[in-house]
Amino acid sequence: MAIHNKSHSNHALMSLNKLRKDNNLKQKSSKDFEKPNEVMVSLNIMDCCDFLKTLPDESVQLICIDPPYNLELAGWDIYDNYIEWAAKWLDEAYRILSKNGSMVIFGGFQFRDVKSGDLIDIIQYARHNTKFKLINTIVWYYKNGMSAHRYFANRHEEAIWLVKTNDYYFDLDTVRVPYSEEDLKLALKDKRLNPENTMKGKNPTNVWQIGRLNGNSKERVGHPTQKPVEIIERFVKALSYPGSVVLDFFAGSGTVGRVCISEGRHCLMCDSDKTSIEYFNKHIEQLKENKKDANYKSVKTIDEFFDILNEDK
Ligand SMILES: C[S@@+](CC[C@H](N)C(=O)[O-])C[C@H]1O[C@@H](n2cnc3c(N)ncnc32)[C@H](O)[C@@H]1O
Repeated sequence: MAIHNKSHSNHALMSLNKLRKDNNLKQKSSKDFEKPNEVMVSLNIMDCCDFLKTLPDESVQLICIDPPYNLELAGWDIYDNYIEWAAKWLDEAYRILSKNGSMVIFGGFQFRDVKSGDLIDIIQYARHNTKFKLINTIVWYYKNGMSAHRYFANRHEEAIWLVKTNDYYFDLDTVRVPYSEEDLKLALKDKRLNPENTMKGKNPTNVWQIGRLNGNSKERVGHPTQKPVEIIERFVKALSYPGSVVLDFFAGSGTVGRVCISEGRHCLMCDSDKTSIEYFNKHIEQLKENKKDANYKSVKTIDEFFDILNEDK
């Protein structure tokens, strides 16, 4: 049984509780956890660096962020010194992430000039200035995109998957993709493959073909850089477990929150733009239309969020 802890600022008690739970998370899968009857969602309108300071050490299982790409797409997408800014939230993210946790960062390799920054600079910073380990670079490949005449039209973005320790939680079975009938027959004959795993489906690999949201996509809620639910779902299912805490501090429309509600994860979100609230409400309307709106409770303060979480343990 967890030690009762009323205040999330009591880091010593929180860490003890976590240690007990984390011990064998590496061997667990989502089947070992019950989906909570109600999940908590907290959407905070403020600067991410201020928001992160309010979160306890090692309190989050998955951080899944889609930061500004530094492409000057909007006012929030221009930085004089991108990596100096990104370093602030990367360091805080490391502190907040649990020992078995994962961090996913979307981005691109759109190198333009020495002064701008992109995912390459983030990898470089994480490698040389933090203790994060890079597990995968996932290539998100899509067939729909802009045309180009002076270069090859771009059809991919990347996401990096970082962890703190080798004991990271990873549930491959939740995201396996089914074999075609023909491929399954061949795979079952392949002596190098374990037939039990083969029957569960294929590893999706680190190249994911998922369509981008078109302007007229039903999923669109109005945010200019909204990510498809399918891509976020894969990360949330594989890298977090029911009842765990997922954090997105560049929430945009709140796609991560939407997936957390359908998948039974608690979710902390932050965005500096208050329009996020309107976008997120549209996600909720869609969940209701699709009958995927599991019970969720909107929680206003971080203290309340962690108090309820600790009482439930
Ligand atoms: C690429 S978008 C995220 C889109 C999101 N993945 C979705 O599916 O809707 C990045 C978001 O980061 C927010 N943002 C930019 N700078 C920020 C900051 N310093 N603190 C918090 N949010 C910020 C922007 O307002 C924008 O909504």
